[in-house]
Amino acid sequence: MTNFPDPYAIAVVGAASGIGQAAAGLMAARGASIICLDRDSAGAQKTRDEIIAAGGRASAYALDVTDPVAAKTVWQKALDECGQLHGLVNCAGVTGKTNLKTHEVDPVDFDLVYRINMMGTLLVSQAVLPHMLENKFGRILHIASIAGKEGNAGMVAYSATKAGVIGMVKSMGKDYAETGITVNALAPAVIRTPMVAALPEAQVNYMTDKIPMKRCGELDEAAEMIAWIVSPACSFTTGFTFDLSGGRATY
Ligand SMILES: NC(=O)c1ccc[n+]([C@@H]2O[C@H](COP(=O)([O-])OP(=O)(O)OC[C@H]3O[C@@H](n4cnc5c(N)ncnc54)[C@H](O)[C@@H]3O)[C@@H](O)[C@H]2O)c1
Repeated sequence: MTNFPDPYAIAVVGAASGIGQAAAGLMAARGASIICLDRDSAGAQKTRDEIIAAGGRASAYALDVTDPVAAKTVWQKALDECGQLHGLVNCAGVTGKTNLKTHEVDPVDFDLVYRINMMGTLLVSQAVLPHMLENKFGRILHIASIAGKEGNAGMVAYSATKAGVIGMVKSMGKDYAETGITVNALAPAVIRTPMVAALPEAQVNYMTDKIPMKRCGELDEAAEMIAWIVSPACSFTTGFTFDLSGGRATY
């Protein structure tokens, strides 16, 4: 169990739903102050309200990771509010249209997935890195996917952009290795969230069948790992993609 030092502020992008919401709640329960960010503003506020109702500390802002201009103001407010930001968990992501062969994919949909999953990873990192460099401390975690390691059929945009996240993290880890900032990724297989519930059943079965444990991961399993990776205790690992796949990826 990770108890965070006080103060310890963590921004969770994609905090309105699924893995981000669960990680925000768990990390708040362990003593971190959470900045809930999501393009779903009402959802981010709901996560904030739930954390506060449970006795934790949290704030909420609307943030679309694809809009760098608007994001600048939001990040400025968030950073001013917390004084020092210690951690960033980036859970904003979309699958785009799935269950399609590559020749059937609409490039417009591919581009949307790219702008959220991959360009969004760059932009949220850039939003916090100068601040973390000034403070000589930071824990950045981007949620990639098993699809980025293995490639899921029917999900070319998702698989390519998540592979991109894994590559970016390898590079960023080295960029900041001597600064007190770690940059890592997490590659879950199927975790039971609204994103998965929205996929066609055939697509979910295809993914779950490949998991040796023959089950979906649960939200608390993802949240526990996230909480540790962005804690001060996870201090000698950077540029790495942690596995959360029930044995599907043993590398
Ligand atoms: N659930 C899984 O099985 C699974 C597996 C592997 C990887 N992941 C990854 O984990 C992350 C979280 O997934 P989840 O299952 O919790 O999904 P989710 O749909 O429940 O949550 C994703 C959140 O991201 C937000 N978001 C989407 N686009 C955004 C944007 N442009 N700007 C800001 N916020 C935006 C959504 O509003 C939502 O709240 C995603 O990156 C996803 O690709 C999930």
